[in-house]
Amino acid sequence: MVDQIEQTLAGTVAVVTGGGGELGFASARAMARRGASIALVDASEPALERAAAELANLTEVEIIPADVTAESDVERYVSTVIARFGRIDAFHNNAGIEGKSAPLYEYDTDEFDRVMAVNVRGVFLGLKHVMRVMRDQRSGAIVNSGSIASERGSASGPGYVASKHAVLGLTREAAVTGARFGIRVNAIEPGFMDTRMLRTLIDQQTGGGGDAAVAALGGVVPFGRLGAPEEVGEVVAFLLSAAAAYVTGVAVPVDGGLLAKVPRPAD
Ligand SMILES: NC(=O)c1ccc[n+]([C@@H]2O[C@H](COP(=O)([O-])OP(=O)(O)OC[C@H]3O[C@@H](n4cnc5c(N)ncnc54)[C@H](O)[C@@H]3O)[C@@H](O)[C@H]2O)c1
Repeated sequence: MVDQIEQTLAGTVAVVTGGGGELGFASARAMARRGASIALVDASEPALERAAAELANLTEVEIIPADVTAESDVERYVSTVIARFGRIDAFHNNAGIEGKSAPLYEYDTDEFDRVMAVNVRGVFLGLKHVMRVMRDQRSGAIVNSGSIASERGSASGPGYVASKHAVLGLTREAAVTGARFGIRVNAIEPGFMDTRMLRTLIDQQTGGGGDAAVAALGGVVPFGRLGAPEEVGEVVAFLLSAAAAYVTGVAVPVDGGLLAKVPRPAD
């Protein structure tokens, strides 16, 4: 029996990988506003410092430069968080790269490996080491960053599409493994978000189509616009809060209706 809607994260500790990027920062800010202490992990130290400066007036923040593909770095970011805050309640396993766009038959094999390393190995390693902490605590919640590319092909990025499909597999495996320890694991599937990553992808796919190509993309979305990073951050914070206490193993689209739509010639 739920007698209180519990979206607060007061007194909790949240870790966000890719926390120097746009969606990771948005989820960190949403959780900081709900009272969580925040640890940001990212390969880019300048990005971490910018993000931490923006969160400093909301909560306690630790920044940890680390490469999510290196197991020793993952062990280090987990142990740094434990040394500073003593526990991990919420984990946004989010660092990811888009890779270069090319048709599958021309896609560079090293590029495939590079994208899989960050988006799959990095997510796996984060799950492995953070779940050990949560298993011992007998509690915790995790959100992995999938994508609409977890559900559909794009005809331009086999590394990204394969990696984001794999994120769903890891989410389901982690959810059934973690359930007995009180650990929930879900994924989000952002659609066309107004971010650097989307602009880079669209520029690659349209040969430098720029703002016009990005704006045209908004027209394909049932809502008729791109999404804002905050709209992802709020969903992540909800999934990581007690308000989502009976939700595990699911992937939640945050896409303005994109995945719900069957394209037609008139659209
Ligand atoms: N932006 C979108 O439209 C969109 C849509 C769907 C899914 N996503 C997913 O959301 C996540 C975040 O995307 P974003 O738009 O914030 O991208 P972003 O590029 O702004 O942020 C990603 C961050 O990850 C960091 N990073 C990359 N490789 C790393 C590594 N090896 N170790 C540690 N950090 C590393 C980068 O430095 C960067 O700060 C990604 O997994 C992405 O695939 C984004």
